[in-house]
Amino acid sequence: MNKKITIAIDGFSSTGKSTLAKQLANNLGYVYVDTGAMYRAVTFFAMQNGYINADSFDKQTLINSLPNIQLHFKFNADLGFGEMYLNDVNVETEIRTIEVSRFVSKVAEVSEVRAKLVEQQKEMGKNKGIVMDGRDIGTVVFPNAELKIFMTASATTRAKRRYDELVQKGDKVTFEEVLKNVEERDHIDTHREDSPLVIAEDAIEIDNSHLNREEQFALVLDLVNDMTKTL
Ligand code: DC
Repeated sequence: MNKKITIAIDGFSSTGKSTLAKQLANNLGYVYVDTGAMYRAVTFFAMQNGYINADSFDKQTLINSLPNIQLHFKFNADLGFGEMYLNDVNVETEIRTIEVSRFVSKVAEVSEVRAKLVEQQKEMGKNKGIVMDGRDIGTVVFPNAELKIFMTASATTRAKRRYDELVQKGDKVTFEEVLKNVEERDHIDTHREDSPLVIAEDAIEIDNSHLNREEQFALVLDLVNDMTKTL
């Protein structure tokens, strides 16, 4: 039997990281962890408690409240992945709105938030056999991951994908709003002081602007098989 490895998938927002990660996890029998969902859940908590809104962000109160935030994933067999629970409440739908997307980069800039989530992520991956996606997985969470993928696609391609998803869910957004949000998040994610989005030296970059899901999956599965054969 092939040895289990750690697969880190990083990249810009809406590059299809989670689709690929879920496909890999299901195919390999690995655990899948969407770290973006964890940053989104903390953001949703901050919104619910009035710590963040369009005009202000009470960072210190959020930091003080971190011990009151419990996050975990519960596997949903129908969906084939773990749904995000915040203090034992399923928030999978709530964390995917454009409002949460608007504030999440600000929350993800806070070092205390990152430290808490990174610690939990390291713990989840300690036995390997995990596919984790995010922005700092190959650089901070699992710098020794056997396979690191960095995904990119043009901002327009990514905004179009996210726009289609939101419209399908019934969100009333314009394409321009979504594109602006994607560009703003790119900027904050790549410029923040703590763990900015950078490509790890040993990561394999995949630009999927012109790849469909199946092509991308086949490409990465080959990489995994090549990797596990040599272990
Ligand atoms: O992958 P996503 O779009 O759901 O992530 C939401 C936000 O969370 C994203 O703008 C950046 C932040 N994030 C992060 O800073 N580090 C991670 N490991 C994952 C997400």
